[in-house]
Amino acid sequence: MLHCSRSSLIYFVLGVAAAISCMIYLRLTFTDLTYKTTVGVPSANAMAKPVITVGSGLAGLSAAYEALKAGAKVHMLDRAAKPGGNSIKASSGINGAGTRFQKDKNITSDDSAKFYADSARSAGARMSSQSGALGEAERKELIEMLTSQSADAVNWLTDEIGVDLTTVAQLGGHSLARTHRGTTGPPPGAAIVGALLKKLGANPDFTLTSSAEVEALMVSEDGKVTGVRYTASGETHELQGPVVFAAGGFAGDAHGLMAKHRPDLAGMPSTNDARPASHGLLADLGAEFVDMDSVQIHPTGFVDPKDRTATYKFLAAEALRGEGGILLSADGRRFVNEMERRDVTSDAIMALPRSQDEGVRQWDVTLLLDPGAAEAAGSHLGFYLFKGLMQKTKVKDLPPAVIEAVDRYAAAVAAGKDQDFGRETFGHWRLPAGEANREEEVAVGTVTPVTHFTMGGVAFNTKAQVLGQKGVPVEGVWAAGEITGGIHGDNRLGGSSLLECAIFGRIAGAEAAKNV
Ligand code: FAD
Ligand code: SIN
Repeated sequence: MLHCSRSSLIYFVLGVAAAISCMIYLRLTFTDLTYKTTVGVPSANAMAKPVITVGSGLAGLSAAYEALKAGAKVHMLDRAAKPGGNSIKASSGINGAGTRFQKDKNITSDDSAKFYADSARSAGARMSSQSGALGEAERKELIEMLTSQSADAVNWLTDEIGVDLTTVAQLGGHSLARTHRGTTGPPPGAAIVGALLKKLGANPDFTLTSSAEVEALMVSEDGKVTGVRYTASGETHELQGPVVFAAGGFAGDAHGLMAKHRPDLAGMPSTNDARPASHGLLADLGAEFVDMDSVQIHPTGFVDPKDRTATYKFLAAEALRGEGGILLSADGRRFVNEMERRDVTSDAIMALPRSQDEGVRQWDVTLLLDPGAAEAAGSHLGFYLFKGLMQKTKVKDLPPAVIEAVDRYAAAVAAGKDQDFGRETFGHWRLPAGEANREEEVAVGTVTPVTHFTMGGVAFNTKAQVLGQKGVPVEGVWAAGEITGGIHGDNRLGGSSLLECAIFGRIAGAEAAKNV
């Protein structure tokens, strides 16, 4: 039930403002780039071969930025009509350990060793497993690179690219708050992608061709990648140059790679748009793939009341739980520590009875934010209210079982101890227990587990080289972002994908630039 109170109105305005600012921001950026792609600007570098980036998500953009900085030309190709891939949708933020933004919030005890320990724990048994070219030593090196360079990546995005990352939240499986997002402006994915596109668009050595499907990597007789073949506007083109392959994961490829590697997940909804995977282009080169059955189920995709059975779901950002949100079963009980890792939380939901919806495998779990959590997640919440994915309601109007669960949890927060599920951090929850809370407004929405991210992918090393048989690098091609496998093992920590895109994308771009 939607109560039209003053705070509802504020959230509605916030939501509209967030949606509009996001659209204006991205439209300006895209318009800029359409100009660049159609006109093209000759430069002193005109005769040199470009670094070719396949994919315009954060991994491709980071690679392009660094390749340009090293003096190369860059030609970016994306099959989509607009740049940004899944990266543009990122909602909770990017991890950084030991940043000045954490210190500003009195989080002074984080460092890369703690982040490494959290990541290795989350990677689970796969951390010590041998899959193709990657064994424990190689996986450790990759995680070491990810965690030790995280603060630098956040600094790069803020100081050099100009992105606001001043708010820090704790996500599931992290021992403290280290996921950075903006305090104002668009959500983190859109803010980061938009800012990078603007920087790249201002460089005469950068070209983006959208709606350009890369169909093959070209290889010389001695096995070196020499460029790509792509189709745009019905014509096939060949482009020569070293290639950074940043084509994303396969969570959207429900009937292709997902059906092949995880047939048991058939019918699960997803946060990823439906799109075929491009892994086959690297497989054709003899590249090795690791952990392909390791697929992340995010616990909270929104069940839209207007379209319950949609297979594409809007994500309910994990930051909502980090800021204080709780999860309740269909019969109104808490059933898990909401700050557990995603795999644990999703498993706990999937152990509950399923919803009755036909044609899609989903559950009816309530995500509930008290006024403190709602305020801390203000711009997210405004947007979800605006989209009709969450509603505001007074505590007294909730079902009796939910009121009881809210009271019990509020008492646990006040005591600083969650005896039921051992939650240790409560975000900004401030609702008291008992009669004192009945006139207060909470925000509620229905959520369900969704396929979200693929941990498996092409084997690569700390120089972002694509690895072939026996771990030998394939010459002329680098990879970064969700297309790669081996860093996250059994479970990726929230906020670590944007991070891997920035770190390994930049490495890939710099390495590829040495080859032109
Ligand atoms: P993408 O951003 O997916 O880009 C790949 C691009 O390659 C696409 O544009 C695609 O069109 C293009 N492409 C593919 N094949 C071809 C081809 N053959 N020819 C030409 N182009 C091709 N992670 C976090 O760390 N923090 C978050 O807060 C967060 N929130 C998320 C929220 C949502 C809703 C989703 C879906 C994911 C979120 N993630 C988050 C995960 C993260 O956004 C992605 O894993 C990451 O951005 C992937 O980046 P990428 O550059 O590897 O791929
Ligand atoms: C989220 O906002 O919950 C997604 C974060 C991520 O996938 O890292």
